[in-house]
Amino acid sequence: MGLRVIKVGNYQELSDMAAQFVKSQVLLQPRSVLGLATGMTPLGLYQRLVEMHRQDGLSFRETVAYNLDEFLGVSPDNPVSYYNYMWTNFFGHIDIPEENAHIPPCNPADAHAAARDYEQQVVQTGVNLQVLGIGANGHIGFNEPADQLMEETHVTDLKEETIESNRKLLAQTAGGDNYHIPQRALTMGMGTILKADRILLLANGAGKKSIVGRMLTENINTHLPATFLKVHRDVTVLLDEEAAPDWL
Ligand code: PGA
Repeated sequence: MGLRVIKVGNYQELSDMAAQFVKSQVLLQPRSVLGLATGMTPLGLYQRLVEMHRQDGLSFRETVAYNLDEFLGVSPDNPVSYYNYMWTNFFGHIDIPEENAHIPPCNPADAHAAARDYEQQVVQTGVNLQVLGIGANGHIGFNEPADQLMEETHVTDLKEETIESNRKLLAQTAGGDNYHIPQRALTMGMGTILKADRILLLANGAGKKSIVGRMLTENINTHLPATFLKVHRDVTVLLDEEAAPDWL
């Protein structure tokens, strides 16, 4: 198995196919544990899943979710928080029980202890299907390019380009561009992510073409964290036309 690449025509098709992926996981195994991502990329996926829930009765009653990451130093109701993103765009529109929808805490008294707790929970529960986006700099979750990557859930300082791309995301999803974007986050580590049974990485748009090409061609290296997905036995990379390298 390893890493397979699927190219589709556009963002709509990518979102449809990703939703079919998640739907079959949840239908075959209602108690599935989903690892979930935020950002612009999975918005279409969440929209399709909400439609499937409303129109076809797709149920998430027994589903468990663990989000990849969260900013530190914001309150959950701040539009910047991924808590807010997940409840606004997905959890608030489906029937997942609140206690099953896990997002790392955004304001813990002790962030390092919170990271350890989250790691323990995720690893003990085990993720069946992990949905991922990829940063234009190759990050996965908030595992930013660096000389060393962390294996477990941890506190991390965000790169300037990540802070900027989050500012753009917020301007589009929450309106306005004056948000204070936190500089630190809690994120699953590369080891946490690679423990998932299956991984679905989504990338769309011309802005991702170069990093996707590099991910597929470069050897595994910590300056392009997404290359580590190559060691996993079951990864699907789902690309739209614009994000796919010319040689694909
Ligand atoms: P994006 O972010 O979906 O907003 O492009 C992806 C990521 O940074 O992982």
